[in-house]
Amino acid sequence: MSNGPIGVFDSGYGGLTVLKEITARLPRYDYIYLGDNARAPYGPRSFETVYQYTLQCVKWFFKQGCPLVVLACNTASAKALRTIQQNDLPLIDPEKRVLGVIRPTTEIIGNFSKNKQVGILGTQGTVLSNSYPIEIEKFFPGVRVYQQACPMWVPLIENNEHHSPGADYFISKNIHELLAQSPGIDTILLACTHYPLLLDKLKQYVPEGTTILSQGEIVARSLADYLQRHNELEKNCTRNGQVNFFTTDSTSDFNKQGAIFFGKPVKSFHLEL
Ligand code: DGL
Repeated sequence: MSNGPIGVFDSGYGGLTVLKEITARLPRYDYIYLGDNARAPYGPRSFETVYQYTLQCVKWFFKQGCPLVVLACNTASAKALRTIQQNDLPLIDPEKRVLGVIRPTTEIIGNFSKNKQVGILGTQGTVLSNSYPIEIEKFFPGVRVYQQACPMWVPLIENNEHHSPGADYFISKNIHELLAQSPGIDTILLACTHYPLLLDKLKQYVPEGTTILSQGEIVARSLADYLQRHNELEKNCTRNGQVNFFTTDSTSDFNKQGAIFFGKPVKSFHLEL
């Protein structure tokens, strides 16, 4: 078992909103972030394609020595994680771990809703996978789950158009579509790691008192807990407080856009997969 940084993966920039919270909570570890920007967005792609892309990236993390990889992407967590955990990991290296963002969220989400009605906003891939209703049912059988795909949100964010009036049109449309399914929804999960960038705008379109949950802090807390419980893995995570960023597309774009998501300057390296 090799020693190395913790890997954090997303199709693009969104996972940086999760890495930001992870590094704030667990600053002593080393991290490698990979954004597969050249092939983003993953949201509209088939199960097979998302699985193949994600597996290829996970193998790259393992080559860098990562004992643990966090898929900070709902689409990859929904479409690829289980197959990687069950079929690939035992063959590649049974001691390594790959974790996602859906489980840490679904195991606590029911605690936030008084009405027991939760809304899920995500990519088409995440919504069509039904992962959220299935997982929430396991932890909170009494909670009703309503989902809405927001296929334009990631492209708007990735193109830095999310503050434009065009963005308002799609945000209000999808929020209305969600709330039309049930006006009693009092908790809305941003089930895409890109969406925290829309938080200010979203607040304008939801009824007062609605709880809007982002995943960054939830995943960071859950990772801290996981590392505490898995000493055998934790001891293989190196601790120099370093963070390295890789993108499969342009580094200058990544540095510019990534800083908005990460909240700090980002200097990336190019990776040719
Ligand atoms: N950030 C990713 C997620 O959480 C998806 C974006 C994409 O469509 O690639 O689902």
